Amino acid sequence: MEYVSSVWLGVLVFISIHGYGNIGPCEASSRVIQTPDQIYRTGYHFQPAKYWMNDPNGPMIYMGIYHFFYQYNPYDAQAGNIVWGHSTSTDLVNWTPQPPALLRSEPYDFKGCFSGSTTLLSGGKPAILYTGVDFSDNQVQNLAVPKYLADPYLTEWVKSPYNPLIAPNSVNKIDGQNFRDPTTAWLNPDGNWRMVVGNQQNGNGIGLLYRSKNFIDWIQAENPLHFMNNSGMWECPDFFPVSTISQNGLETSTMGPNVKHVFKASKASTDFYTVGTYNPNKDIFIPDNKSLDIGLGFRYDYGKFYASKSFFDSATSRKILFGWVNESVNNLEINSIRGWAGLQGIPRRIWLHKFGNQLLQWPIVEIEKLRMNPVIEDTSVLMPGSVREISGVNATQADIEMSFSAKTLEKAEKWEANWTNPQQVCSIKSASVKGGVGPFGLLVLASKDMQEYTAIFFRIFRGDNNNFIVLMCSDQTRSSLHLPSSDYDKTTYGALLNVDPLQEKLSLRTLIDHSIVESFGGEGKACITARVYPTNLAMDGATHLYVFNNGSQSVDISKLTAWSMKTAQIN
Ligand SMILES: *[C@@H]1O[C@H](CO)[C@@H](O)[C@H](O)[C@H]1NC(C)=O
Ligand SMILES: *[C@@H]1O[C@H](CO)[C@@H](O)[C@H](O)[C@H]1NC(C)=O
Ligand SMILES: *[C@@H]1O[C@H](CO)[C@@H](O)[C@H](O)[C@H]1NC(C)=O
Ligand SMILES: *[C@@H]1O[C@H](CO)[C@@H](O)[C@H](O)[C@H]1NC(C)=O
Ligand SMILES: *[C@@H]1O[C@H](CO)[C@@H](O)[C@H](O)[C@H]1NC(C)=O
Ligand SMILES: *[C@@H]1O[C@H](CO)[C@@H](O)[C@H](O)[C@H]1NC(C)=O
Repeated sequence: MEYVSSVWLGVLVFISIHGYGNIGPCEASSRVIQTPDQIYRTGYHFQPAKYWMNDPNGPMIYMGIYHFFYQYNPYDAQAGNIVWGHSTSTDLVNWTPQPPALLRSEPYDFKGCFSGSTTLLSGGKPAILYTGVDFSDNQVQNLAVPKYLADPYLTEWVKSPYNPLIAPNSVNKIDGQNFRDPTTAWLNPDGNWRMVVGNQQNGNGIGLLYRSKNFIDWIQAENPLHFMNNSGMWECPDFFPVSTISQNGLETSTMGPNVKHVFKASKASTDFYTVGTYNPNKDIFIPDNKSLDIGLGFRYDYGKFYASKSFFDSATSRKILFGWVNESVNNLEINSIRGWAGLQGIPRRIWLHKFGNQLLQWPIVEIEKLRMNPVIEDTSVLMPGSVREISGVNATQADIEMSFSAKTLEKAEKWEANWTNPQQVCSIKSASVKGGVGPFGLLVLASKDMQEYTAIFFRIFRGDNNNFIVLMCSDQTRSSLHLPSSDYDKTTYGALLNVDPLQEKLSLRTLIDHSIVESFGGEGKACITARVYPTNLAMDGATHLYVFNNGSQSVDISKLTAWSMKTAQIN
C-alpha cells in the first residue's frame, strides 16, 4: 500500500478501534489531532525509518566507523522475516542507514537471521556469529565475514561455506528451539577462542561454552560457562571483563589482576547481570555473591530494556551498551497501524562501581552535543504538596539533570517487612499517594492541566536498623490517557537505589523523547526506561514538564538543568 493512503487508513482505524474521538476530560472539539504514527517517533533515539526493530546485534568500531546491526523486519511493523539491519556512525548519535548486512538466503537461515555478535579477529578483521533458523525450525549458529575489508562501511557480508557451524543433533542433544544468540568471542590464554550460546535444558538457564582454534570448528566444553537451575531460557548472553581500578572499558579478551567479569542473560523481558570471577584455566565463571546471581540481583534497567549487547570502543576506551526498548503496546495491531515499532535506548557507558558488586550506567557523552537552550535553577525548596512548571524547554525532546537533598528525614515512613518487590511498592505507593519523604521528582510529557503525566520519583523510607531505603519509581498509570489500558501496558516500574540520603545527594537524569522516558537514578545505579504515548502531544503538539513533591517534608533541589534536545539523524 502506498504511503499517503496508509496514513489515512491509520487515522480512521485508530479512531474506530481505540475510541480516539472520545477523549474524555480533554475535549478535542476545536483542535486538530495529529496522526499518531509520526508524533510518537523519536527525535534522537535510534529507530529505522519504518517497520519492526528489536535486538541490537554486534555493535563495534571498525576503521574509525561505528557499526550497529539490529533485528529488523523489512516488510512489516511486526516481529517476523528477521534480517540484520545495519547503520553506521562517527559519533554514536547521528546514523546513516546501510543495506541489511544479513538477509535470509540459505537453508540454515531461511526462517530468519537472528541475534548474534561481532568479534574482531587477529589483525582486527570483523566476523559475525549469528543464529539462523533453518527449514525445520532448528536454531543453528553461523558465521559471516566482510566481503571487502578495505570498505570501512562493511556494506557487504559473505556467509561462510561451512555454515551451519554448530547445529543441534542426536549426539549433542541440544534443544533446537532453545539454542541462540552467540556472544562476542574472547581469546583464552591457551590460544583458542571461546564463545557462549544461550540455552535452556529442563527449565534451567544455561550459557553453553564453545572453543575454537580457527573460528569455524567449534567444540562444546564439558561444562557450561554459567547456568542456573529453574531460571528459564537465557537469551542474548553477554560476557565481558571490567576493571576494578578504572572506569575505562577493557578489550573483550582482557584477563588477569584488577579484572572482574560480568555475565548477562536476558529472560522474562528483563536483562539481568552478575559480577564475578572467570577462571580461564577451568573455564568457569563464579558470581561473587550467589544471592546476586542472574534473576536475583541487578538489572540493567527496571523498565523496558531488553536483549542488550555491549562492545568495547577502542577509540575511547569505553564499554558501551545498547538495548532494545520495546513498545508498551499489548494490541500489536497498533504497531502495524503506526507502521513502526521498537527503539534503541541511548547507548550507555558502563563501568564497575567502586564497591565492586554492580555496574554504573550513563548516557554516552556524545549525546550532550544535542543539548541547547539550558534552563538552569540553582537551589530551591520544594514545599510539601507543591508542583512547579519548568518552562522554557521543549518538554517533548529534553534532557534533565537534577539532584535532591533533604535537611532532615524525620518524616520518613517505615519500610514494611513484607515489601520484597520494589516494583510492587511503587504500585501501592504511586505518585498520587501522599507520603513522608517523597514522592518527589518529575512529571514529564504532562498536559497543561496535569491530568496526564508520567511520574519519575523517589521515596525515602526508614529501615529496621535506623538505615534509610531509597525507592525510585516510574509511574505510567496517568500516561497515555486516551488509550485504553487493555491495549497499552501501563505497568509501574520500581527499583531500590543504593544511596545513603544522609550522606549523598539524590541525583536524577531523565531523557525525554516523544514516547520514551529514560531515567538514571543515583548517578547511574538504577535505570528505568518507560514508553508512553501522550494524548496532549497529539492534541497540542507540545507537552509540559513539572517538578513535584507530594510528601509531608520539604526537599531541596540542589541544582536543576533542563535542555531542549536537537533532532539527530536517527537513521
Ligand atoms: C541443577 O539441575 C541439574 C539437572 O536437573 C541437577 O543435576 C543439579 O544437581 C542441579 N544443580 C543445583 C546446584 O541445584
Ligand atoms: C550478597 O548480596 C546480598 C543481597 O544484596 C547481601 O545482603 C549480602 O550482604 C551480600 N553478601 C556479601 C558477602 O557481600
Ligand atoms: C514487549 O512489550 C509488550 C507490551 O508491554 C509485552 O507484553 C512484551 O512481553 C514485551 N516483549 C519483550 C520481549 O519485552
Ligand atoms: C503486607 O502486609 C500488610 C498487613 O498484613 C497487607 O495489608 C499488605 O497487603 C501486605 N503487602 C504485600 C505487598 O504483601
Ligand atoms: C498529590 O497527592 C494528591 C492527593 O493524594 C493528589 O490528588 C495529586 O494528584 C498528587 N500529585 C501528583 C503529582 O500525583
Ligand atoms: C520540540 O522539538 C521538536 C523537534 O525539534 C519540534 O518538532 C517541536 O515543534 C518542538 N516543540 C515545541 C513546542 O517547541
